[in-house]
Amino acid sequence: MSDCLLEGKNVTKHYDEGRIQALRGVDLAVNASEFVAITGPSGSGKSTLLQLLGGLDQPTSGEILFRGHSLANSFDLDSYRSRRVGFVFQAFHLLPTLRALENVQIPMFETKLGLREREAKAAELLREVGLEHRLQQYPNQLSAGERQRTAIARSLANDPEILLADEPTGNLDSENSAKIMALLTGIQAKRNMVLVIVTHESAIAQLAQRTIHIRDGRISS
Ligand SMILES: Nc1ncnc2c1ncn2[C@@H]1O[C@H](COP(=O)(O)OP(=O)(O)O)[C@@H](O)[C@H]1O
Ligand SMILES: [Mg+2]
Repeated sequence: MSDCLLEGKNVTKHYDEGRIQALRGVDLAVNASEFVAITGPSGSGKSTLLQLLGGLDQPTSGEILFRGHSLANSFDLDSYRSRRVGFVFQAFHLLPTLRALENVQIPMFETKLGLREREAKAAELLREVGLEHRLQQYPNQLSAGERQRTAIARSLANDPEILLADEPTGNLDSENSAKIMALLTGIQAKRNMVLVIVTHESAIAQLAQRTIHIRDGRISS
């Protein structure tokens, strides 16, 4: 129990007034410092589950617990999401009008850090992902792999304990996929974070300590 960082208890999620049952009673527990892969067919509820774990949305029934406390009852969801969780998406979701150094600062706008501190921290994070030479570039001046590195740096802006990645290599070729996975697993080990990755690719799932399969909104194994 003490090792369990993130838990879902009988979690359901309905959309469209119940016409779509994206999750139909999911139980899971993720331990501190654990790297878990979530796999399953398209439409099986993987992204929905990740969003609930990250506090981006709330379950229809059941609950998500962080360190044993219900997210809905014990936490301010906005601060949970911005301070404890980092998100990485397939399509990077960088703001096109901001330079790499600025994109990485976005989550820091909700903190008390001043401009100098934000810039210094963003530069350090971009160095951590191997982009110390690309600070001033706009997203359209970066390669796909560099964009995802920038997004990963941004996900770490507030030193989260949990990193949630939804198909993070889905827009990358196999060489860049391997590099991004090496980066993510390196970060997870170095920072002792929980890493939950949604992926279609068995080669990526195999890197995880444990794989959870979802089918039709239920954990199948
Ligand atoms: N915001 C939403 N509104 C309505 N239906 C949704 C929404 N998000 C997801 N769904 C539906 O819920 C089901 C699960 O979706 P999702 O979690 O995105 O699956 P996956 O990530 O495994 O492809 C699908 O049928 C999808 O169409
Ligand atoms: Mg999805």
